[in-house]
Amino acid sequence: MMPIISLTSQEQELENLVIVISRLSKIPGGIFTSAEKKYIRDQVEDRKKEVVSFNRLGYHIFIFFIKNEKDRSKRLENCRKTGDQIAATLNQFKASRVALFDGDRLPEETLAVAQGIALGSYQFFGYKSVREDVNTLEKIEIYSMSLEEEDSSETRVQRLNYLHDAVYQCRDLVNQPHSHLTATAFASRVESLVVTAGASAEVLTKPKLEALKMGGILGVNQGSHEEPTFTVVEWKPENPVNSQPVVLVGKGVMYDTGGMNLKPGDTMLNMKDDMAGAAAVAATLYMVAHARIPVHVVGLMPATDNRPGERAFVSGDVITIHNGKTVEVINTDAEGRLLLADALSYAAKYNPMLVIDLATLTGAAVRAIGKFGAAAMQSGAAGSMKALAESGTEVYERLVEFPMWEEYGELIKSELADLKNLGPPEAGMITAAKFLEHFVTYPYIHLDIAGPAFLEKRDSYRGQGGTGFGVRLLVHYLTKMADISL
Ligand code: BES
Ligand code: ZN
Ligand code: ZN
Repeated sequence: MMPIISLTSQEQELENLVIVISRLSKIPGGIFTSAEKKYIRDQVEDRKKEVVSFNRLGYHIFIFFIKNEKDRSKRLENCRKTGDQIAATLNQFKASRVALFDGDRLPEETLAVAQGIALGSYQFFGYKSVREDVNTLEKIEIYSMSLEEEDSSETRVQRLNYLHDAVYQCRDLVNQPHSHLTATAFASRVESLVVTAGASAEVLTKPKLEALKMGGILGVNQGSHEEPTFTVVEWKPENPVNSQPVVLVGKGVMYDTGGMNLKPGDTMLNMKDDMAGAAAVAATLYMVAHARIPVHVVGLMPATDNRPGERAFVSGDVITIHNGKTVEVINTDAEGRLLLADALSYAAKYNPMLVIDLATLTGAAVRAIGKFGAAAMQSGAAGSMKALAESGTEVYERLVEFPMWEEYGELIKSELADLKNLGPPEAGMITAAKFLEHFVTYPYIHLDIAGPAFLEKRDSYRGQGGTGFGVRLLVHYLTKMADISL
């Protein structure tokens, strides 16, 4: 269950309460005895505690002292993480509601705590016949919050609930094992999801992909007994701020065995996450449609699994992408770029102002920066990259930009075809992006999310398994474009 945030003017008595303040002097009166106040002071001043909690009869009170941190991005992240810790205690005590008191007129910090509580309460039970330790938090009620903006606070909170719902949906899609989420199942789930939110969707099936000569996705799909799909979602509001759409493209490899270049040992484990890019695109469209954000956005989600099979494509094969360019397949495990190539050249028909793709594309990106951010590269989109990176810092889905020097492009030239799908072992995330650049004719940003999309071990409100990386980033970027705060 996802805890829903709401605003309330009425302070309830004897209920779970989080007091969000920056200084001892801001502790509200009437709640604590003088002995308790002394205890709070000791905890904060001597023991340097950030959170002081009281276990009262039947409820908890937490006083969270916002870190004295000048960097807004770090400060808000600290608030989210504290929210996650508080959620863990409350869920452990089977609490269903918690009140948040913005005791210091710091609404952004208070909302960040609420976000940490909401996202930290996510659970995926999968196919267990008995569910244990089910989280119980249903309601986060914020009182005394004052937002200084035209938008009413209710709208702002509602947008946040839509965002959290989208992150939950994204995580669910990623956590679903391949046995229960084929390309066809993904397409129909995404279609019904976005349609309920008010967007339109169309699923291109194999005959259509053949007619469109999408040799990349069809090549990867050759070894599979499952049909490929290509889901197109569009959110076109009445008066969008952009005259040309933003197109989002997501890698939808439902499971990556590596194909004939089979992944060795346990490197195949968790390759159900190879559709995290497509899941993030679907969830972003779901959110912007739900919240009726006035930006014209299109989502493209090519989907198939990658397996060896009787008809599987093999190393040395040459395939032809949607735009007519030919590719020599060096390694069938470098499959993501092949279906992305089809989708990126297809994206041109929308005459986009910008295309952003998200893909769990390379192990090289993971080796370079680990799980704490995405490797980003751009072509003709330096300005948009700057704005996107700022959004990334704000929501703590950070981007590290890598260069697109032409020398890297030399490394993927083929003797047999226009390009080959794999370069040397070094700088693999860059040669992958240089490959994709051959299929774009518009300002383009590529996000390699192989690191942050999925976590083996739980990390605060990001959880374990699918993190939903990219959803908060893209939604922040798109709402900022529409001059709306998130
Ligand atoms: N899906 C993988 C990349 C990946 C790695 C995603 C780790 C998530 C976590 C991609 O399709 C792949 O297999 N890449 C290989 C290419 C290989 C042929 C060099 C890689 O980068 O190791
Ligand atoms: Zn692969
Ligand atoms: Zn892959």
